[in-house]
Amino acid sequence: MKRIIIEGNKTLSGTIKIGGAKNSAVALIPAAILAEGTSVIKNVPNISDKDALLEILNLLNVQVTDEKNALIINAKEAQNKLITENLSNKLRASYYFMGALLGRFKKVEMYFPGGCNIGSRPIDLHLKGFEALGAKVKRKKSKYIIEAKELKGADIYLDFASVGATINILFAAVLATGKTVIHNAAREVEIENIAKFLNKMGAKIKGAGTETIKITGVKKLNGATINVIPDRIEAGTYIIMGALIGKNLIVDGVNPNHLKVVLNKLKEMGVKMKINRHQVILNKCDKLKAVNVRTVVYPGFPTDLGQPVSVLLTQAEGVSQFEETIFENRMGHVPNLQKMGAKIEYERQHAIFYGPNKLHGAELTATDLRSGAALVTAGLIADGTTIINDADHILRGYERIITKLSDVGAKIEIEEV
Ligand code: UD1
Repeated sequence: MKRIIIEGNKTLSGTIKIGGAKNSAVALIPAAILAEGTSVIKNVPNISDKDALLEILNLLNVQVTDEKNALIINAKEAQNKLITENLSNKLRASYYFMGALLGRFKKVEMYFPGGCNIGSRPIDLHLKGFEALGAKVKRKKSKYIIEAKELKGADIYLDFASVGATINILFAAVLATGKTVIHNAAREVEIENIAKFLNKMGAKIKGAGTETIKITGVKKLNGATINVIPDRIEAGTYIIMGALIGKNLIVDGVNPNHLKVVLNKLKEMGVKMKINRHQVILNKCDKLKAVNVRTVVYPGFPTDLGQPVSVLLTQAEGVSQFEETIFENRMGHVPNLQKMGAKIEYERQHAIFYGPNKLHGAELTATDLRSGAALVTAGLIADGTTIINDADHILRGYERIITKLSDVGAKIEIEEV
């Protein structure tokens, strides 16, 4: 286990370069297995979730060359093997091997995926989608055997616009016979990135990024090259830090169009920023206004930034309301912020912030990836020393976070305990 130690109250100044989007990369890597050839994925973030996916590719006899930020993946000799419980459990995105292996081999055996403990996170919509395409799903405790004689295109209606289910159904449908239509599909920009990769491989997908995605199955896919889009959640996290303690902090390599709703919310709070084509430049804002934040599916306020933005709410003058609508258990940061002096009342998926509150350093525990990011943000603005235990969660999704923050003036270290 690792822990992060922060000496707070320093100014952040300089440039932070944003990496490739975690939620795109973790789907693009399994997608490469759909091609009987070599694919190149560029701008892959250096996060521990990537390492876990490469372990799975290794098990499946897929050849991978890891060159700086590019992965060269040759899946020609891929073998369909049981993905062990230990590997399935390492991350949420292991579930993308369900759709990818089912698409390529018409059979997959693996276990329930791992990932952050932020709610029950069932995979029923993924499985219903596979079944609609003609697969049979057998479950023995947490092991799934999903098999199809033939995958046939179908009309699929998602009860909820799930990111994971939309992508998994895409993976199974691109090599099915006939037409598939996904209704009420998730519209996240990462899904457009993944559909672009699949189309470059030879798939026929239309409408990615909208709520209706149409797929015409093809017989075979070839390797292709794709760039991972910038990580809007990593960018949003550093933008929030800049609003709190920035002095001309340049968050670089961003696509501001992917963050419109977040930037608008920050403007509503009175955050001063300059938005260029690929940069957001921030300065500390002395007087932040209280606002209400409600997380919803894309293009609404992203659930993955709900925890980091909470730190901003502790500094706003007045009463701010916060509601998390996607996951049942995404308040792990709140007791930690309370420990630092934040006045917050919360129950289940609602929290009320009474700000502004001066935060002081404390010993904290990251309960999940984005709560960890919130605690780093809080530690940076607090008086004194903050210790964040279970910091491994943070490294799953923020590449080189210690170096990136140290380079702009933060006093932050990580150590093994
Ligand atoms: C993905 C992201 C995660 C982000 C989330 C929402 C990855 C690896 N993770 O997670 O960072 O917070 O989207 O933007 O990309 N649900 C069901 N049944 C299902 C699937 C989902 O009930 O079969 C529910 C979930 O419990 C949750 C909601 O739908 O309440 C949204 O889940 P989903 O969009 O699928 O999120 P993930 O793919 O898990």
